[in-house]
Amino acid sequence: MIPSELLKYKNNSEKIIALTAWDSITGSLVEEAGADLVLIGDSLAMVALGFKTTLPITLENMIYHTNAVCRGFKKNLDKQPLVICDMPFLSYQCGEEKAVEHAGKIIKETPAKAVKVEGAEPETQLVISRLVRMGIPVMGHLGLTPQSYLNQGLKKQGDSLVSQARIKEEAEILEKIGCFSIVLEHIPDFLGKDISDRLKIPTIGIGAGSYCDGQIRVTADLLGLNDKQPPFCEPLIKGNRIFIEKLKTWISEEKLN
Ligand code: KIV
Repeated sequence: MIPSELLKYKNNSEKIIALTAWDSITGSLVEEAGADLVLIGDSLAMVALGFKTTLPITLENMIYHTNAVCRGFKKNLDKQPLVICDMPFLSYQCGEEKAVEHAGKIIKETPAKAVKVEGAEPETQLVISRLVRMGIPVMGHLGLTPQSYLNQGLKKQGDSLVSQARIKEEAEILEKIGCFSIVLEHIPDFLGKDISDRLKIPTIGIGAGSYCDGQIRVTADLLGLNDKQPPFCEPLIKGNRIFIEKLKTWISEEKLN
């Protein structure tokens, strides 16, 4: 699948289901579970590498993890999920030339077919337009944008009328300048619905209500692998507790042998 094919899902009212992955084990899990789209999100810095924010992760790290995820896929190429790689902090907020070079490195050195960038600042808009013109599909990301941690923390966005109007306007701009889809993170449900109704391109929500055209979750959050859980993701299982208990049992049995 190429990124523009996601539009078919929206036009056929079929939900797009997206999951994150960070290594070949999680790549194989989410592929086999049937995700339409796999995001190698920079959240891997927090959920798999032990950082407190997404800021420290590098372009090289993202390329390394994207290749690891794709090595875990078992299906034939034409049946594999669409792979998107996050552009890490300061890999695109550093001028158009460098942004093209960095996005190009992701596309040339990994099987990713698109990149994701956060926000819609005027400089980011220029970068997105340029990447799209150069043949690199871009997914947008609005609402809570974790790369803005030092400015906004990890707080819900769109709580005031001003902020709602800004997010709506930014979504329309991102569509206009060529994003093929937009992630909406941690905003009120009604805002997620309003934006999804207004746009032709699909919205993929995380903590943005059930009316978005698709849903994405950080797989570690869904499986309860870490102690910390974002408020908008109810874990399906308490993975870390289950694994620890099983390992404890194995260890104590082995000690007796
Ligand atoms: O980095 C990430 O995993 C993301 C998702 C939360 C959409 O951007």
